[in-house]
Parts: sequence; C-alpha cells; structure tokens
Amino acid sequence: MSTEEKIEALAEKEALADLGGGEKRIEAQHGKGKWIARERIHYLLDDGSFEEFDKFVLHQSTDFGLDKKRLPGDGVVTGYGKINGRPVYIYAQDFTVVGGSLGHAVSGKICKVMDMAQKAGTPMIGLNDSGGARIQEGVSSLAGYGDIFMRNVLLSGVIPQISAIMGPCAGGAVYSPALTDFIFMAENTSYMFITGPSVMKTVTHEEVTAEDLGGGLTHNATSGVAHFLGKDDADVLDMIRELLSFLPQNHREPPPLTEPADDPYRIDMGLRTLIPDLPTAPYDMRTIIHSVADDNYFFEVHARYATNIIVGFARLHGMPVGIVANQPSISAGCLDINASVKGARFVRFCDCFNIPLITFCDVPGFLPGTAQEYGGIIKHGAKLIYAYCEATVPKITVITRKAYGGAYIVMSSKHLRGDINYAYPTAEIAVMGPEGAVNVVFRKELKEADDPKAKKNELIEEYRKTFASPYRAAELGYVDEIIAPEYTRPKLIRALEVLQTKKDRMPPKKHDNLPL
Ligand code: HXC
Repeated sequence: MSTEEKIEALAEKEALADLGGGEKRIEAQHGKGKWIARERIHYLLDDGSFEEFDKFVLHQSTDFGLDKKRLPGDGVVTGYGKINGRPVYIYAQDFTVVGGSLGHAVSGKICKVMDMAQKAGTPMIGLNDSGGARIQEGVSSLAGYGDIFMRNVLLSGVIPQISAIMGPCAGGAVYSPALTDFIFMAENTSYMFITGPSVMKTVTHEEVTAEDLGGGLTHNATSGVAHFLGKDDADVLDMIRELLSFLPQNHREPPPLTEPADDPYRIDMGLRTLIPDLPTAPYDMRTIIHSVADDNYFFEVHARYATNIIVGFARLHGMPVGIVANQPSISAGCLDINASVKGARFVRFCDCFNIPLITFCDVPGFLPGTAQEYGGIIKHGAKLIYAYCEATVPKITVITRKAYGGAYIVMSSKHLRGDINYAYPTAEIAVMGPEGAVNVVFRKELKEADDPKAKKNELIEEYRKTFASPYRAAELGYVDEIIAPEYTRPKLIRALEVLQTKKDRMPPKKHDNLPL
C-alpha cells in the first residue's frame, strides 16, 4: 500500500468509527429529539477545538455474540477541546453503539481522559446517555464503573466535574454523575434511576412512568439530585458553557475575571423601599441579588429545588461570586432539611474552587415540626453550619431583615469566620422573633395581666425596640457596618477587593467528618 493509500484508508476507518452504531440508529436517536455523541461534543466545544482519542479502541469480549461485533471506538467518544478558550476534557456516551452500555473498553477510555484531566488541571465533562453496565461483559462492566467512581472521588475538589444526563442513566450508573459537582438534565429525554419502572412494578407493585420516577423535572424539583434542567440537548450544553465561565480550571486557580461593563459604584434607590414595613410581609430576595450583580445577571443553581433558599453565581465588578440567600417569599425563608443540604453543597463547592461567598440573610429560624425532626433536621442543618465554618474563601454577609436564633449563626455570621458582615437598618438580630420570645420570657406576667393582649403587645414592642434591630449586634462588633440598602453593590465590591488577598485555612487533618 502506498503512503497515499494508507492515508486514505485512515480516513475510511475514521468515517466508519464516526458512524458509531450506524445510520439507522443515528436516525432513531434523532427521532427521539436527541443528538448523537459527536454532535453534542461539537456543539459544546469551541468551534474546531475537539481532538478525539481512542477512535479505534475495540472491546475484547467474546461472550453472548460480542465477538461478532466490531465497534470501533466502542460506546463512548472521548478527547479534549476548549470552552470559552479554556481547555476541558470530555467524554460523551454513544447510545447508538450497544445502547451506550459500559463495558471494559468504554470505562478504559473514560478513565484515560479523567486521569489526563487531573494531571492537566482542567474541568472534566461527562455527557451520559447509556443503558448502564454492558450485560454481556458481566463483572468487567461493574469493575469499569468502580474505576470511574474511584476517579470521581480522587478528582473531587481538584477540578470541576460536570455531568449531563442526556438519555437513560440507570442502575449504579447514576452514581458517577452523583459523585460529580453538577448534574444537568434535559426535559423529556433524560432519566436517572437506581431501578426502572418495570422492576419497581414487580418488586414494590408501584406503577410510575419513567418521567415521574426519574425525569428531569423530578430530579430538579423533587429529589434535588440534578441542579439544572434544559429544554433539550442544545439548552443543556449552552448552560454547561455558561457555568464554566464562572469557574476556575482547578482548585489552585482563582475564578476567571471578566472585563466589567457595569458601574461598580452603581447605587439602587429601589432597594430602600424593598423591605416591607410589616416584618412578616414577604419580598423577593432575588431583587437584591439582581440589583447588586454586574448587569443584573444571576446564574441560578438548583432553581427548582428547596426554593426557600437561593444559590447561584454572579459577577461583581467582573469577579465571580457564589451567592447564598434566604428567600422570604417562600416559607418565610426558613431553613429546612432540603434548604440546608442545598446551601451546604453549594458553599462547599465554592470553597473548593476559591469562589468568594456572599450571603443574604433573612431567616426566621429552622422549620419546626415532626417531619423535620424525624427527617433529621439536626444533622442536615449541621451540614450548613459545617460548610460555612470550614469555608476559607472570602465570606461577606448582608443581613437584610430577620436573623433569628441558630439560623442567624448559620448564615455566615462572624462567629463562623464571616469576614465582613453588613446589616440593613431593617435587620432584626435576636434569639427568636418578638412574639415567641414574649411568650417564653413573660409567661407569668401575661397570665396575671388584667388585659393579657394589651400587655403582650406592649412587651412585644419593648422587645422589638431592644433586640429586633441590628444595633445590639453592632455594639458587640458582630456586625461590621450598618448600611443603607442602596449602597449594597459598592459596599460588596469594595469588600471583595480588600478580601482578594485573604488567607485562612483549616488545621491539618486526614479529612473532615461532615455530619452525613
Ligand atoms: C447491553 C444494552 C444495554 C445494556 C441497552 N442495550 N442497554 N446492551 N447492556 N445494559 C442495547 C439494547 O439491547 C439495544 O441493542 C440497544 O442497546 C438500544 O436499546 P433499546 O432497548 O432498543 O433502546 P430503548 O428502547 O431506547 O431503551 C433504552 C433502555 C433499555 C431504557 C436503556 O435499553 C434498557 O432498559 N436497558 C437496560 C438498562 C439496565 O437495566 N441496565 C443495567 C443497569 S445495572 P440493539 O442491538 O437491539 O440495538 C447497572 C449496574 C451498574 O448499570 C453498577 C455500577 C456499580
């Protein structure tokens, strides 16, 4: 064969590998409203930046007729490329090849790029679309998942790991995504479950559709397993690009700065009237978040889950920040199990990757009730305390209204190494709300009063004047400055700038023991 012929043969082999499971299966994939692996990769990465590895890898299995199937590249496409000009490693499972199922060759390809991502210190992206462990390969498939899980854990906190579920994801296969930092799902085309609907029907006699059991909305709004929900493949991939724009490449780097277009000294007189006079009246905390963020832009994470707390990313004068905020318009912004876990996970992510935290606090306390106590609010609430305590990134807090009891301490108070803590004049920092406090402390006086209602109102007013303000906390130095709401953005930007060189750390240890 001449050199020219050899080069032509290579092109033919590559074209065959590019076809994956063949045209019929590609058509079927498109018919389901899904793209195939290479289409997804090319859409996600910067134009022309994808470099593929292991296109000719073949499985070595002989059982159940697999010896008759030559599958160049097998059921996954792997390699590297760029997103917003920065390198990433990527794998995309190819459902057209034996349902994207994972055997020894597939896991070997995935582990190879994971190892390379770790050494290079670049994000690792996994696009999942697979029938799970390749049944014909038996324990080799299971071993392959184990190899991936192991790497997910070794890479955790070293580089950002992002998973998109873009088709089925069943059985133990869900655990690799669950070990990564963020999970994206697509409406109507992606599913995650340990056990599918048919097995469930046999075992527990429950009847449920795949969508209800493990669809995108279920995992975004009910279980909280997934963090983002896209309309379709393109939407999911657009969101991944956007998320990465806030993140550093690895734990040793600061998050990427962008050229700011918004005025850092911009004040917002609208914030003066946002907090209602009536302490129990709701307002939307997002108004403050949008107001302070560059171009009023907030990239929310976990937007449909535990909506009594808000988490997400924004930029302040070009600097990426993680925002955690109670939402007084949902369940009065109280902290319950789901909100605590959601907040804790986000705080820990930001701390892993040097992203400063800004906390907006308006919280009446932890949610009372048997459902919460039996569900373990004590250990789950402790996760949020733990996360804020161990976080060494710059931590800035703004108490907008209520900061009651344990929830005051949790929300990045000075006592948990909060760096700069602001309060609005409308802040109420106390052990509990006025009514509850009066009921406990003045039980006897209220019983003996001629007019208990009038007495109660009088005592509530007195309590409110004494404790339901930021001034007692300011006298003790627990609040660094009481600020007029319109200055929130310039105050936060200055605080962020001065904290850029902050250094803090945890004492040496093997690892921590987060309450699980
Ligand atoms: C081998 C598989 C496969 C698998 C699908 N295929 N899953 N081959 N191992 N796990 C093959 C099918 O035989 C079919 O081959 C092709 O992929 C497409 O599958 P279809 O069933 O035609 O597609 P669809 O109707 O869209 O259904 C997709 C599906 C279904 C819902 C994923 O295939 C399915 O239920 N698969 C099994 C899921 C499962 O139970 N996996 C094991 C989980 S246990 P042909 O040649 O006909 O096109 C697990 C353990 C991991 O993963 C443990 C880690 C610790």
